[in-house]
Order: sequence, then C-alpha cells, then structure tokens
Amino acid sequence: MIVLGLETTCDETAAAVVERDDDGRGRILSNVVFSQIDEHAAFGGVVPEIAARAHVEILDGLIAQAMRESGRHFAELDGVAAAAGPGLIGGLIVGLTTAKAIALVHEKPLIAVNHLEAHALTARLTNDLPFPYCLFLASGGHTQIVAVLGVGDYVRLGTTRDDAIGEAFDKTAKTLGLDYPGGPAVERVARQGDPERFALPRPMVGRPDADFSLSGLKTAVRLEAERQAPLSDQDVADLCASFQAAVADMVRDRLRAGLKLFRERFGQPMALVAAGGVASNQVIRALLNASALDGGTVLVLPRPELCTDNGAMIAWAGAERLAYGLTDTLDAAPRPRWPLDSVRKPTAPPPRPGFGPGSGSGFDLAGDPVPA
Ligand code: KG4
Ligand code: ZN
Repeated sequence: MIVLGLETTCDETAAAVVERDDDGRGRILSNVVFSQIDEHAAFGGVVPEIAARAHVEILDGLIAQAMRESGRHFAELDGVAAAAGPGLIGGLIVGLTTAKAIALVHEKPLIAVNHLEAHALTARLTNDLPFPYCLFLASGGHTQIVAVLGVGDYVRLGTTRDDAIGEAFDKTAKTLGLDYPGGPAVERVARQGDPERFALPRPMVGRPDADFSLSGLKTAVRLEAERQAPLSDQDVADLCASFQAAVADMVRDRLRAGLKLFRERFGQPMALVAAGGVASNQVIRALLNASALDGGTVLVLPRPELCTDNGAMIAWAGAERLAYGLTDTLDAAPRPRWPLDSVRKPTAPPPRPGFGPGSGSGFDLAGDPVPA
C-alpha cells in the first residue's frame, strides 16, 4: 500500500510518500522536509504564529514535490495521513485540514496519526524491526522511554517531570549566549571544554523509576554562569561540556532503569530504538550503544533525517495503521495534547499473516551503522 504523510506539528513542514509491502517491509518513495529554523532563530525558539503561517505557505508546494518525486499519482494512493497531535494547534490544523481535503477529493481513507506513534514506529520502516522493543524518544518537546508492544500498543515507562532534554539544551544555549537550536551549538562548543570543571547535579540518578528531570540541572548551569560572569570562551565551553556530561550520565542511568522495567514487565526487548533530535548528539549516541549492550539488547538508530521530524514517519505510521483498518473520519480533530498510550488500538487481528506484532522478517541491523 502507498500512503502520503504530512508533518506540521512544530517547526518542520514535511510531506512524504512511503510504500508498505504485504509482508510489512517498507520503503520511502519520497521525503521532503522544509525546516523553519531560520524564521524562528531571531526569537530564540519556535513562535507558534510564525510556524502556522509558514506551514500554510509552503505545504501545498511540498506535497506537489513529494508526489512528483515519488513517481506516483494521487489516484494510486491507498491512504492520506497527517500528524493530528501532539503539537502546536495552528500547524496541526493546517496539516490535518490539508490531508482531509486530499482524502475527500481523491476518495481515499484518512489516517490521523499521533506524532509520537510515528517516532515509535520508524524503526520498523528503516530496519524491519519486530515487536516488542524499547523506544527512547528525546526531542525538543518530548523525553520518554516507551515499551512499543504493537501497532497502537504502547506503555510509557518513563517521562520527564519538567523540561524535555532538547529543551534543556536549548535553554542552556540561550543562557550561555549560543545560537538556536541549542543542541548542536552546545555539542560543538563542548568539544573544546572540560566536562569535569563544574560539578553539576545529576537529577533522578539511582532511582528505580525511569523518569527524567532537567530543570534543576538547567538552573545549576545558570547559577554557575552567573558566578563565573563575565564568561570567557573557555568558561562557556567548560559549562557546555559539564552540562552535556551531566545529561549523558542521567540518560545512561535512566535507560538502565527503563530497560530493567521493560524486562520485568515484557521480557527481553528486540532492540533499544532512539529517536528525536537529541539522538543526533555524538556523546549521547555513544552511550546509547553501551546502554543497549548492558541491557542485553542491540541499538537501532534510524538515520538522523528520520530521527528528527519528517513526513516519512507519518506516512509509515499511517500505513501501519491502515494495514489494521484503523482509519479516521473527516471530522477527526487536531489534538495539541495526545498521550501515546491513549491512541486507538487494533481490535481485529492483522488482516493477513505477516502484518502483525512480532512478524518482522529478518530484522535488518546492517542498514544503519552506529558510531562507536
Ligand atoms: O526531534 P526534533 O528535531 O524536533 C522536535 O523537537 O520535535 O528535536 C529538536 C531538539 C532541539 O531541542 C535541539 O536542540 C535538539 O533536538 N538537538 C540536539 C542536537 N541536535 C538537535 N540536542 C543535543 N545535541 C544535538 N546535537
Ligand atoms: Zn518529533
């Protein structure tokens, strides 16, 4: 089946076409992403009104490009998917309404996709990964450890009690006068810094639950920066390196706890899967590999452009849901808040052998090399 997917939840406008075979294997026919970073950079963060306006202006053109590059016509689609939440309401309305219009005109089923479910299922598109597996999602808006048990079947094992990890990187960058988005800037500057110069807190480390907390660490960076002011370039580099080391220690410990909870409740996971912009950080990537091995499993890390927000993940989640007949009506509402564990589950078994949970055929670890 062939599905068009639209992503407009935050500051990326994206459209993609993917194909899903009857045996559950997928391939990307086109994947077009426009990042609005330049339009928000001057404000140090995403401005919802600017984002919504930019989505309206460019989405049509991106869809036309995605269809052209896929070599398919609207008539050949089996479904039209859009991210219906969670996210910024203006963008959600733009994407979902556009998908409804295409579905209506071309008489195709609509799939209103949960953006987090799309992150969760991407590893099945890239690596044909069977269920169950453990997802670590770390982006600007979300920090979660999730047991992915089947399509529509997710159990949240841990989440942040305050800021998301990406948000903490962004706020730290702002405190230290670095550019937006902060993650890449902090990582770059940290390479020149001493990660042991400042003893920053490691909140939550050692606890049996798998939750995160970032706000104390963020505040500690600010207080230390105030103590050191005026900051030299070396002070900034040392603060970045010390912050990043604290985040890395926290992530390592929280994943240890999360993988333990996973094993106790669901047995051994087929993999640890990482997603979200933070997973492109080299220090974090290295520890993810070690965490997976310590947890007795393997790491699956989709390519960076599929870890960050994109249309292919929405199209793929749409295809996975469509395979179970999970479609939505044209009155589907955008949902700015939409917890992953409340998405609709399949009520019927998979329509054909090969579709369902645990059916991945020859799960492919070779495609995406993981840096040591
Ligand atoms: O998944 P994503 O592209 O978008 C959403 O938030 O949905 O994630 C963006 C977040 C930003 O907070 C950004 O600062 C962070 O991911 N990020 C990083 C790195 N690259 C992006 N954080 C740490 N290190 C990086 N290299
Ligand atoms: Zn995302």
